[in-house]
Amino acid sequence: MSSELRADDVHVVYGHGANRVHAVRGVSATISSDRALGIAGESGSGKSTLARAIIGLLEPASGSVTFNGAPLAELPKRGEGSRPRVVQMVFQDPMSSLNPRMTVGDAIREALQVNDIPGDHRAEARRLLGIVGLEVADASKYPFQFSGGQRQRIAIARALAVRPEVLVADEATSALDVSVQAAVLNLLRDIRKESGLALAVVSHNLDVLRYLCDDIMVMRRGVAVETRPTKALFEDPHDPYTKMLLGAVPRFAVPPGIDRRSAL
Ligand SMILES: Nc1ncnc2c1ncn2[C@@H]1O[C@H](COP(=O)(O)OP(=O)(O)O)[C@@H](O)[C@H]1O
Ligand SMILES: [Mg+2]
Repeated sequence: MSSELRADDVHVVYGHGANRVHAVRGVSATISSDRALGIAGESGSGKSTLARAIIGLLEPASGSVTFNGAPLAELPKRGEGSRPRVVQMVFQDPMSSLNPRMTVGDAIREALQVNDIPGDHRAEARRLLGIVGLEVADASKYPFQFSGGQRQRIAIARALAVRPEVLVADEATSALDVSVQAAVLNLLRDIRKESGLALAVVSHNLDVLRYLCDDIMVMRRGVAVETRPTKALFEDPHDPYTKMLLGAVPRFAVPPGIDRRSAL
């Protein structure tokens, strides 16, 4: 079955009075297992805020988020204030989601336990480590014993432990070296292909989105200015802001086969 997470006319507001920030202003988006969605835009454009609203970590001021037609708020959670189990998120800094005093194996087993996943948790943790390209022996190590890229793999394994139907990656590879970044992007791509996971990728880097996503939504000041199939967006951007963003991509980062002038 194909999964679909839909945001409809979502508004998110932080703070009150003079500190009020209207961070997301009426955005609609669909994340489905059929088409991976990329969310682009400069820093401060509201990408992370939208992502948090989409996975149920933030409550929108207005608008709705539904999963396969049911309101997100009604889906089973693992605790008060926690996000629904069907959606998981991978963040830029994996250390923030990993307990430094817990071995990797324990961290994954904890996720399995808390979410009442049946079966042999030890075997399942080993399977998950295998999926993200780590060794069985890595289960008894601590987060600090890994590189940044490996830690991101662990965070992905932990997110997958919950058997989500939707995975949102927010700048998940932005802090990694280019070669490590490529490996993690390949991993996300493979996981999506093999598991049918609905994927949304938030990145200020358009090349990351181009690699992983079927559609790209461009955000500016809390508004989605353009949402189009990736290829069309690169070849014929409609919005001036999208053109500006594409123009800001360093020349060397544009894969061969694309005529830059047509993108400008
Ligand atoms: N917790 C918060 N409290 C108040 N304002 C916030 C908070 N998080 C983000 N903002 C503001 O909301 C806007 C959008 O931020 P964010 O969603 O983080 O953008 P992006 O991920 O595109 O960089 C910015 O103006 C930012 O300063
Ligand atoms: Mg962000």
